[in-house]
Amino acid sequence: MPYQGLIEKYRKYLPVSKKTPVVTLHEGNTPLIQAYNLSKAIGGNIDIYVKFEGMNPTGSFKDRGMTMAISKAKEAGSKAVICASTGNTSASAAAYAARAGMQCMVILPAGKIALGKLVQALMHGATCLAIKGNFDDALNIVKEISAKYPITLVNSINPFRIEGQKTAAYEVCEFFTPDFQAMPVGNAGNITAYWKGYKECRELGFAKKLPVMLGFQASGSAPIVRGYPIEKPETIATAIRIGNPASWKQAVQARDESKGLIDMVTDAEILRAYKLVAAADGIFCEPASASSIAGVIKLSKKGYFRKFKGKKAKIVCVLTGHGLKDPDKAIEVAQKLNFVKPNIKEIMKYIKL
Ligand code: F0G
Repeated sequence: MPYQGLIEKYRKYLPVSKKTPVVTLHEGNTPLIQAYNLSKAIGGNIDIYVKFEGMNPTGSFKDRGMTMAISKAKEAGSKAVICASTGNTSASAAAYAARAGMQCMVILPAGKIALGKLVQALMHGATCLAIKGNFDDALNIVKEISAKYPITLVNSINPFRIEGQKTAAYEVCEFFTPDFQAMPVGNAGNITAYWKGYKECRELGFAKKLPVMLGFQASGSAPIVRGYPIEKPETIATAIRIGNPASWKQAVQARDESKGLIDMVTDAEILRAYKLVAAADGIFCEPASASSIAGVIKLSKKGYFRKFKGKKAKIVCVLTGHGLKDPDKAIEVAQKLNFVKPNIKEIMKYIKL
């Protein structure tokens, strides 16, 4: 039987029963790629693998949580779902709701959603409303609406989202348990989910140890690092432009239990990492995702991995979304296109052999 999505694969470890109508786009089963050129370019004592979550059906890790959230909403008889989003959650919710024959409503911060994500939510037929305000304002609104009206909230405060997303850790453990796991932190649902997944894998005997969790926020949107909510979060990594994460406590718990850290990286560091992984290993992720790599570069420069017992530190960097999500940012920072005459002599001027 071909791969049927993560609910079928991990059914035993998820809160589903035979009665649950499985709404799937065959999400999960994403590649874990050894980024040997990137590791070499960064140098030092590290061996980086990327968990390329941009290879999910709608191009981000949100599909793992959404297959669970939408299936459970359908099981409960819900006819409509709602979410606040910096873009990826809305794209995923819209796609899975369409597949389930449910209505989907999304509230977005106006002007701060990457083009690819917006176009997905619109194409999948969601009702898309942009507000003058940020993600945190939008989340407050959808929490209130879902408390008052018969419409299911599918942001990551929905516990089924976390259950679906924890399967990424199960997938990593099928190959090895990393020494470190690096990832972006926005609303902090994903770090919560991975940590839950790793702990379960150890209990089940799929993993011999637990990784040290390394979370990275953008420096203009780093409430957990600074220790207080940020009223006006800013960063070019719009996916993690969040000032008051809903799963703040759980993220701190993952950090502390794993003896890890949550640090911040600047927009310039994020963009450098974003370009580096694309050029070095052919892996195109969106800017927010590259904060995991930017964070590893920052720690590596400080000698953080040097203390790691003689052998190379095995690091999994989660690349949460595909680079095609944000074409505007890519065009802005990539090399420029050359315009030439359709003439071989002209063209050969550009080719260095
Ligand atoms: N990376 C990407 C590409 C994201 O879209 C998000 C969150 C994160 C990282 C952070 O994950 O919130 O679980 O800590 N995007 C949400 C959205 C907020 O609305 O799409 P987190």
